[in-house]
Amino acid sequence: MKEIDCKRRFLFRIYPFLVFCLFCIHCSTENQPTKKEPPPPQAITVPLPEAMYIQNGCISCHGPEGNGRGTHTHLLKGAQIPNFQDVSTYVNGSSKEAIMKSIQNGIPGTYMKAYSHMRKHEIEALAGYIQKMQKNRR
Ligand code: HEC
Repeated sequence: MKEIDCKRRFLFRIYPFLVFCLFCIHCSTENQPTKKEPPPPQAITVPLPEAMYIQNGCISCHGPEGNGRGTHTHLLKGAQIPNFQDVSTYVNGSSKEAIMKSIQNGIPGTYMKAYSHMRKHEIEALAGYIQKMQKNRR
């Protein structure tokens, strides 16, 4: 009987200490800084027609501004490269339909190859992009 009393008293004494320990553990885990993932890099978005003008290499011959000053233009010996900004320099016509035809069929016997593998809506988007460069469109 005495022994049980002793055990009880012991437990009673250490009880506040146990509660204190639990409290401490709780606090230490709660205040741990949560690891934050760095934010993802911002996606670079290029409007579709411009992306196609770049990806299909048009830019290398026709130049970023369409004035026929691309990184590869100097390699095109004797080419009559048009200035997309100036409608008077187009050989095949500067309307949307005419430009689409030039892209679809190319210009035989010149560096301008046929892009016949392209879908119609892609060619249309490219033609629209070229037309936007035209400064003296009628
Ligand atoms: C290897 C160089 C090269 C690449 C690549 C190229 N072109 Fe051309 N392009 C030319 C040359 C050179 C001409 C002029 C041909 C001629 O009449 O002598 C031309 C002509 C054109 C014309 C006709 C303009 C006119 O005079 O009526 C259009 C439209 C055109 N290119 C659009 C494009 C588009 C769009 C792309 C990409 C999908 C492209 N080109 C890729 C060299 C290139």
